[in-house]
Amino acid sequence: MAPPPSAPAHLKSIKIAIIGAGSVGTTTAYALLLSGLASDIVLIDIDKRRAEGEAMDMSHAAHFAQAKVRAGETYADCAGAAAVIITAGVNQKPGQTRMDLVKTNYALFRDVVPQVAAAAPDTILIVATNPVDVLTHAAHKFSGFPVERVIGSGTAMDTTRFRHELGRHYGVNPRNVHAAIIGEHGDSQLPVWSLATIAGMRLRDYCAQGGIEYDEAAMDACARRTRQAAYEIIQRKGKTNYGVASVLVSILEPIITNGDALVTVSRVGTFAGVEDVALSMPCKLNREGAHQLKVPLLLSKEEEEGLRKSALSIKEVIESV
Ligand SMILES: NC(=O)c1ccc[n+]([C@@H]2O[C@H](COP(=O)([O-])OP(=O)(O)OC[C@H]3O[C@@H](n4cnc5c(N)ncnc54)[C@H](O)[C@@H]3O)[C@@H](O)[C@H]2O)c1
Repeated sequence: MAPPPSAPAHLKSIKIAIIGAGSVGTTTAYALLLSGLASDIVLIDIDKRRAEGEAMDMSHAAHFAQAKVRAGETYADCAGAAAVIITAGVNQKPGQTRMDLVKTNYALFRDVVPQVAAAAPDTILIVATNPVDVLTHAAHKFSGFPVERVIGSGTAMDTTRFRHELGRHYGVNPRNVHAAIIGEHGDSQLPVWSLATIAGMRLRDYCAQGGIEYDEAAMDACARRTRQAAYEIIQRKGKTNYGVASVLVSILEPIITNGDALVTVSRVGTFAGVEDVALSMPCKLNREGAHQLKVPLLLSKEEEEGLRKSALSIKEVIESV
């Protein structure tokens, strides 16, 4: 079914496949459907009936949107997709860290990624399954794709949470807070305080200019709540899905529209002197994938050291699987 004539011309035949029709996969499919960015959304799950049921239900929502949603039979249904989002795998139970999931989800990637890559050799892989940095590295290895075309959602989620926290503290819209969390989507992540700005002013300058106290303890609490957010949500509802789904669509948007947007996502590279590891730094996203910035982030000495520690802790897990 062709999308309705009202769809913008450049979006008319955008197919996106989503592997894993669980909480993250289906919420992402729904957010994508409502965004109008894709014309064809395919849900693939090892539990085919689940994928079918979700696609049937969502196809009734599609009546109000501009896309077709269907269940895929096999990974071959990824053929022709502009991007394939991988959300399949086990999720954290209360008290578990993301790294606790590594063995099960790594084995799943070893099985699934080569099949997806064979079906859609030109696609862009977007990894959401945790531990996302280790699995972004695995997806790069198992697909044989260039590093630009294997993107982990990484700390795009944490960066969103961090801006939310800072926006609440300073009483401004989080969109007007520029601040990033880099490194691991996990416990060794770090906030880049030295480059955090509101209205173009670094936080300390913003406070001095406004006659407000720069409250170090409150800033630490913002970073701590950012780091702990998933644990807190999982303790209450058993999973996280809305935030990550919106973040995945925000990663897809500049890929589909060739938008050159700067987004903090995970990809394979050398970071703080640690080679062949995947972690998040601001990258330029467009239809060719995620590109490292030509102008590297100007980090403080402590931040550079924090990034190195984060890289080494991810690398240790990569080498252990
Ligand atoms: N990156 C992030 O910010 C972020 C946020 C939330 C969750 N996650 C991660 O996303 C993953 C999924 O979480 P969820 O809450 O959706 O879990 P879920 O249990 O609701 O869904 C997982 C789905 O994967 C399917 N699946 C399992 N093996 C498969 C295979 N080989 N092929 C296709 N489908 C398969 C299952 O049948 C299930 O439907 C977890 O690893 C979780 O930790 C990441």
